[in-house]
Amino acid sequence: MGRLDGKIALITGGARGQGAEEGRLFCAEGATVILTDVLDEEGERTAAGIDGASYLHLDVSSEAEWQSVVDTVIARHGALDVLVNNAGIDLDKRFEATTLADFERVVAINQTGVFLGMRTAAVAMMAAGRPGSIVNISSVAGLQGVRGRAAYGATKWAVRGMTKIGALEWGKRGIRVNSVHPGLIETPMTETQRAFTDPDVRVRAERNIPIGRMGTATDIANMVLFLASDESSYCTGQEFTVDGGVHP
Ligand SMILES: NC(=O)c1ccc[n+]([C@@H]2O[C@H](COP(=O)([O-])OP(=O)(O)OC[C@H]3O[C@@H](n4cnc5c(N)ncnc54)[C@H](O)[C@@H]3O)[C@@H](O)[C@H]2O)c1
Repeated sequence: MGRLDGKIALITGGARGQGAEEGRLFCAEGATVILTDVLDEEGERTAAGIDGASYLHLDVSSEAEWQSVVDTVIARHGALDVLVNNAGIDLDKRFEATTLADFERVVAINQTGVFLGMRTAAVAMMAAGRPGSIVNISSVAGLQGVRGRAAYGATKWAVRGMTKIGALEWGKRGIRVNSVHPGLIETPMTETQRAFTDPDVRVRAERNIPIGRMGTATDIANMVLFLASDESSYCTGQEFTVDGGVHP
């Protein structure tokens, strides 16, 4: 028996990285998964390689696209039980160098995208009258200040905040909302960072991680699976840090 048997799950930013890994794990646990992204070719390819997954285009910053994708999921599968708000972009820029356009671009995807996803999915979940789980991917940059992340950090703190508000407003309607806070995880987002490209920098970075290694997409997917499944049925409005122990 799988831990997500019979559940319909939508994952944003699922063409690659953590979202794709969550798609693989969810399907292995019995879910029907709809991967979404703006990288259509990669997304179609990823979904084709996973038994139980399909792909739909979804730019998370678009209110109209959110409505259309959730309507399609309900029409095809009859319900939406799990939403993973995983899509995101990074921006490593000093505060004073961050332009308004930079800031608004990161907010549109990382923050407005999560707001639209939470609202659209919660309305559909309540209409279907089935319990739901929303998992929002924040970051350790949403738990503490990180240099060079004025825009990115602001959005990840906002995701943590919206998680708690959704949990309060929707708990009695059967919808749980939690946030996941990854540390440094090896994915396409980070593979060009020196911690991954320069072996000396990597060794030094790993020395500062209590568990002694960088994180993998599977480390995050396992936590997201727990929060998506009924095993976490008494958890809502909480932040779950997966960072090898850097932020005890
Ligand atoms: N990798 C890390 O070290 C790390 C650490 C903390 C938090 N995170 C967060 O984890 C999440 C997943 O990141 P990842 O590491 O897998 O990186 P990734 O770049 O591999 O994946 C992010 C995905 O989001 C998609 N995306 C970007 N803009 C989009 C948009 N407008 N609409 C829909 N999809 C869009 C990308 O195409 C990509 O497939 C992100 O929210 C990221 O901020 C990552």
